[in-house]
Amino acid sequence: MPEPILNSLLIVIFVVVLTAGYAGLSAAPWVPTRKGERASLVAKLKLKDGQTVYDLGSGDGSLLFALIERFPNCRLIGLEISLLPFLISLIRRLTGWSRYKNVRLLFRDFYRTDLSKADLVFAYLMPGCYTRISEKFSKELKNDCIVVIEAWPIPGIEVKDKIVGDRQLPLYVYEGRQFRTGK
Ligand SMILES: C[S@@+](CC[C@H](N)C(=O)[O-])C[C@H]1O[C@@H](n2cnc3c(N)ncnc32)[C@H](O)[C@@H]1O
Repeated sequence: MPEPILNSLLIVIFVVVLTAGYAGLSAAPWVPTRKGERASLVAKLKLKDGQTVYDLGSGDGSLLFALIERFPNCRLIGLEISLLPFLISLIRRLTGWSRYKNVRLLFRDFYRTDLSKADLVFAYLMPGCYTRISEKFSKELKNDCIVVIEAWPIPGIEVKDKIVGDRQLPLYVYEGRQFRTGK
């Protein structure tokens, strides 16, 4: 293999490993939400046209692509910091461009992204980041923003609703104001 190509390949591999490591330490490694949980969420959600949804750590975009099929007139925004799943999500978006034009994919750290316009925030992350993320939610989320957390509930905050199917990870539902009031 010619040296410039080999060097470029090594740089890409380095960045993939580095960003995956950062994501794992920062909030969670890339583990996609399974089809069953995705289907339960998509079936249960009620969104109005024009509403804005964020997936914090959008991985390969599977959840956003499933949501846009049911809510084509919503704005869906994926924030992802790990290069490999981010590139996969971009390729998937390109292949379904006309259906996915309302899906925005940003290579960005969600801790550094303003969520004040969100109507719904979804997160499937490790509980170790909940203190930091709850603090962020308390400062930025609108009172009526719906927050859906997959797998582990947020300690100290009353669960408004729980979506759980057969042999599925639970999805815990909260409202933005709860991150300020605790209730
Ligand atoms: C458990 S996966 C969930 C993927 C996707 N939301 C889903 O449900 O299929 C968590 C994702 O968060 C990403 N992530 C971790 N920390 C992040 C950060 N600070 N900013 C953006 N993405 C992050 C990881 O790279 C990973 O893809």
